[in-house]
Amino acid sequence: MSPLPIIIDTDPGVDDAMAILYALAEPEIDLIGLTSVFGNINGPLAALNALRLVELAGAEVPVAVGASRPRVQDPVGDATYVHGEGGFGTVSLPHPSRLPDPRPAPQFLAKMCAARPGEVTLVAVGPLTNLAAALDETPEIARTVRSVVVMGGAVRCRGNVTPYAEANIWQDPHAAQRVFDAEWPLTLVGLDVTERITCNAADLAPMAERSPRCGAFLADAAAFYFDFHKRTAGIDGCHLHDPAAVIAAHDPSLFTQQTAPLAVTLDGDAIGQTREAETGRPNDICVDADIEGVRARFLSALHAGRLP
Ligand code: BDR
Ligand code: CA
Repeated sequence: MSPLPIIIDTDPGVDDAMAILYALAEPEIDLIGLTSVFGNINGPLAALNALRLVELAGAEVPVAVGASRPRVQDPVGDATYVHGEGGFGTVSLPHPSRLPDPRPAPQFLAKMCAARPGEVTLVAVGPLTNLAAALDETPEIARTVRSVVVMGGAVRCRGNVTPYAEANIWQDPHAAQRVFDAEWPLTLVGLDVTERITCNAADLAPMAERSPRCGAFLADAAAFYFDFHKRTAGIDGCHLHDPAAVIAAHDPSLFTQQTAPLAVTLDGDAIGQTREAETGRPNDICVDADIEGVRARFLSALHAGRLP
């Protein structure tokens, strides 16, 4: 079978870096593009970090620059307290020598899907601003995309930025509602499952040995992220939020899904909450996962030494 073509829409971010490097390391995935979005860090830095990651991995993956602010609401602020000032913990990668794709992210997404109708999976692991803009500008993308997988939401569990909201949805709830309402096949991979999938420093150590460049980077960048998780969640290691979404795109059989329409709370204390709704377009919501299977998939690709 030919590898699954995916585009990752990302706000890199430590777990974004894990997801991107995982996608590059997994032979059954063909990472055909990255689109950047504000979120964990500001918009311009997100674009630079996406370029830095493909350069680090020596990959020929185009990066298109996306949104720097939410669709409707005022920005709620970044998450450098989680991911570090530059997005990669305390690690600074060199300024990238390559340039971004000339097309803005929404146009890039639409063109890439139109060029390969029914083949491309979009994996969104940041605020959904670019995907919502692509739907506005090129509604046909809902028909040309193969499927959309979103890391976001806390449907049946507590949020991680407020008691109700998960960070990606909270950063741009109006975009999330637009994306959940669209006529495309969508799977939500939320905190319901991602907070149960973890890795720690010992898990990453073999990657640092076999892929010295990318592995050492990830091990160093993750240290700050591990500290955050130790302080706030009392765990040894971190949640694998964004890698879980890429793995769900690649092997949905590792996840248990239930189908329901999704609604996003757009004001009040619960703004950014992602709820199952009575009416609306049904989406697939991951409610459980083969936790060990997902972890094993992530680690085996990174341990294989396919990255520099
Ligand atoms: C999500 O928010 C960001 O901090 C992470 O990169 C992930 O996409 C988890 O809530
Ligand atoms: Ca992210």
